[in-house]
Amino acid sequence: MWLKKVRQLDIDSNSGFAKRVLLLSLPSAFVFIMLVILNLLEPYWALLSYASVVVFTMVFMIPASSEMQQVKNYISKLATDTADTDFKLNLSEQEAKDIADAVNSMHKFWLYKTDALEAQTISDTAVLDTLPDPILMIDRSGNILGANLASRQLLDADITEKNVENVFNSNNFINAVNKVLKKESDAESLVFYAPGGLNKKMYAHIKQLPWFSKGRTVAVISLYDLSKAMTVEKMQSDFVANASHELRTPLSVISGFIETLQTSAKNDEQARETFLKIMADQAEYMSQLIENLLSLSRIELSQDKLPDEKTDVCKIVKEAAEALSVKAVARNMSINLDIADKIPTIIADSQQIKQLVQNLLDNAVKYGVSPSEITVSIKLSEQIPASKTFNVAKGKAVAISVNNKGPKISADDLKRLTERFYRMQTHKDLNIKGTGLGLSIAKQIIMRHRGNLTVSSTNYNGTTFTVYLPIKIKD
Ligand SMILES: Nc1ncnc2c1ncn2[C@@H]1O[C@H](COP(=O)(O)OP(=O)(O)OP(=O)(O)O)[C@@H](O)[C@H]1O
Ligand SMILES: [Mg+2]
Repeated sequence: MWLKKVRQLDIDSNSGFAKRVLLLSLPSAFVFIMLVILNLLEPYWALLSYASVVVFTMVFMIPASSEMQQVKNYISKLATDTADTDFKLNLSEQEAKDIADAVNSMHKFWLYKTDALEAQTISDTAVLDTLPDPILMIDRSGNILGANLASRQLLDADITEKNVENVFNSNNFINAVNKVLKKESDAESLVFYAPGGLNKKMYAHIKQLPWFSKGRTVAVISLYDLSKAMTVEKMQSDFVANASHELRTPLSVISGFIETLQTSAKNDEQARETFLKIMADQAEYMSQLIENLLSLSRIELSQDKLPDEKTDVCKIVKEAAEALSVKAVARNMSINLDIADKIPTIIADSQQIKQLVQNLLDNAVKYGVSPSEITVSIKLSEQIPASKTFNVAKGKAVAISVNNKGPKISADDLKRLTERFYRMQTHKDLNIKGTGLGLSIAKQIIMRHRGNLTVSSTNYNGTTFTVYLPIKIKD
């Protein structure tokens, strides 16, 4: 047993075992020396007795030292994270057991803390990655410590550990970062161009982290891509420019004729008749244009609100065909209806569907050849064809097709028909009146209803616009 303990005891030079044995046996050494000096004990008995004290001390100390050695080795292993916490130490001394238990529970507590910290870091990274805008975290020297998914996609997958000076080639941007890092400023904002010839105008906000954040990150850079907002802004200013131009043209015609009527044609009865007719036409065009512009903005404003009226598409189509029949007859055209059985009512905005059908029928009457037939058909469709640019509803739909005869529309024109103010040159040359807004209004209405619009055009069949409207709007 004792030998086993000795074997177990891997006494290393630093354990102090020998020192402790000597120290414990020192008082008895003094006692024996005194006894020899006083002639109360023979020197060889004193030596023998001292040797037995040393042996006894060793025998009593070996188990405790052996266990402390085991605990020490175990703690060293825990420190390097290679120990198995469920590993059972072979301890018999109560104190050694208590120390081992205390160390074990401390280790378990830190393991739990580490796991919690790791989980928090993973969830923080996931949250940052869901943000659509790039975010960078930098240290005191401007090294990038962290980058969310958006910034890795914009800049580089291996952006971390690079210095901002090597990533961004804008002096203004680097100066702003340095100002924040040197604590000359708490936050800086600026507009600059994204690196790597991306030609993207970016807005950057560089913000110092509060003093109580103890990590290596000292500042956060948030970037916002301004190109999308600029495109929308450009579209809006183009729209205003187009609308103003469209209004200015008839207005200048009217002003010109007013001036002529006030001067040279003052007493010319025949000229007055002709000019007044042109002025009335131009005024009519202007009011149509204003009406369409207001309509377009109203529909755009209603985009976020889903339609909720029970709508009878067949009734709307019949009424629109009736209303446009006079204009059609004037062009030697007729409107045929081909309505399938059991077309259900749909959930829609009845007023907007009426406007949509009228716009399509009006185009068919205006741009179809004379004489010819226009056919409006209503069918049930199992689904709505997908769109690349907007969301369409899932499920069954009602499909309204308006066909008119006429020459094939080129692919280039087909792509642009729903653009605001776009009109085909052939129709402008033929002096067919129009604002170029009817189809863009139709498209906005269809988008609000989560439907879709398809156009096909051939020389033989003419042009067919098909509108798909969901029976119930399900995204
Ligand atoms: N059925 C069609 N056949 C041939 N071309 C068409 C047809 N519908 C539209 N287009 C072409 O598409 C252009 C845009 O049509 P849209 O309805 O948006 O404007 P518009 O008819 O010119 O003006 P508005 O609708 O205000 O009277 C038309 O100018 C025309 O060139
Ligand atoms: Mg039109």
